[in-house]
Amino acid sequence: MRLAVPKEPQNERRVALVPASVPPLVKAGFEVAVEPGCGEAAGFPDDLYADQGAVVAAEPWAGASVMVGVRAPLPGRMGSLAPGALAVSLFSPASELAVVKEAAEAGVTLFSLELLPRITRAQSMDALSSQATVTGYWGTLLAATRLPRFFPMLMTAAGTIPPAKVFVLGAGVAGLQAIATARRLGAVVTAHDVRPAAKGEVESLGARFVELPPTEVVQGQGGYAAEQPADVQRRQRDVVAPVVAESDVVIATAAIPGRRSPVVVTSEMVRSMKRGSVVVDLAADGGGNTELTRVGKEVRDGGVVVIGVPNPPGAMPMHASQLYSRNIATFVSALVDDGALAPDLDDEIVAGTCVAMGGQVRHAPTRERLDQAAS
Ligand SMILES: NC(=O)c1ccc[n+]([C@@H]2O[C@H](COP(=O)([O-])OP(=O)(O)OC[C@H]3O[C@@H](n4cnc5c(N)ncnc54)[C@H](O)[C@@H]3O)[C@@H](O)[C@H]2O)c1
Repeated sequence: MRLAVPKEPQNERRVALVPASVPPLVKAGFEVAVEPGCGEAAGFPDDLYADQGAVVAAEPWAGASVMVGVRAPLPGRMGSLAPGALAVSLFSPASELAVVKEAAEAGVTLFSLELLPRITRAQSMDALSSQATVTGYWGTLLAATRLPRFFPMLMTAAGTIPPAKVFVLGAGVAGLQAIATARRLGAVVTAHDVRPAAKGEVESLGARFVELPPTEVVQGQGGYAAEQPADVQRRQRDVVAPVVAESDVVIATAAIPGRRSPVVVTSEMVRSMKRGSVVVDLAADGGGNTELTRVGKEVRDGGVVVIGVPNPPGAMPMHASQLYSRNIATFVSALVDDGALAPDLDDEIVAGTCVAMGGQVRHAPTRERLDQAAS
């Protein structure tokens, strides 16, 4: 069984598999083949892969049984895989209809770790969580370095500096890591989320939680948030506006799976912040949490900068890749039984993550979109 690690597209610095993950996969029965330079941008040159027992090959996917990636497979590769091969990466199937179609036509079993059920047994494969951890940490450091003032309180002979006030919007995995990082740097942190369950987690990190009355909020499923109706959105803006106005930094991480990220921070709120304040929008790829966010751009308004960060985990590729690699290697190893690939659709992790298998698109929302596109 050959497992291929292709080079990611130009704008992606992460790699799906790091050298340290090669020996356990070899032990599980794989020959690991990597495309030259695949780990270079993440700090893993080809010789480190070779040292761990990988083969460096120009087109590692040719005849491979498994192809792993960070981004969705590039066009034209799935047809070269071995019959019945698997492809695993982290992507939104609804935004990659051409990839899903190609997988179904080539008979490739396609998995997206974005669909992984967030159950305890799947925690070591949870790439959304591992990458969100990087996002929250790195996004907070970005804010700290762009803010023209200190995060911690300082008492010096030259005067006393009060601590920075940081507001974290969305207290999921990225938001909680942002809170923890900002607290370690000595900032005073306030956070808000529509999930009432986030309150205890936020407070346990030493931050203040600003909440909407739980009875007003529409609850989501599976621990996720739901899109809020217009009246709740209005109420939310009333609650959030004064916190934004008094903050030096806003770190925005709010997201709803499969939907555009909610716009909570208005242009007016941004203008109410002090000059020099910084908004880091880590939800920019999903549309952003502020009215001013433009992905990949820095928008200035009233002396405040709104940074629409593209692909935040890709900005810290070494550890992002290391964590992702562990997720991928654990997932792939779980698909092997007695030295052969045997994905078991009775397993909720395998079934939940599978986008296409045996020529059929199994992920219902993606199938519906493909049917709509065809009609
Ligand atoms: N294995 C596990 O048990 C496991 C692992 C990871 C995460 N989780 C849970 O999964 C859930 C989702 O975590 P995630 O980090 O992937 O979330 P996510 O990236 O989907 O969203 C980020 C946060 O934004 C919040 N949000 C959405 N709309 C909002 C709005 N309008 N205003 C303010 N906040 C809003 C969400 O509630 C969430 O906390 C959480 O409940 C988390 O605890 C469970």
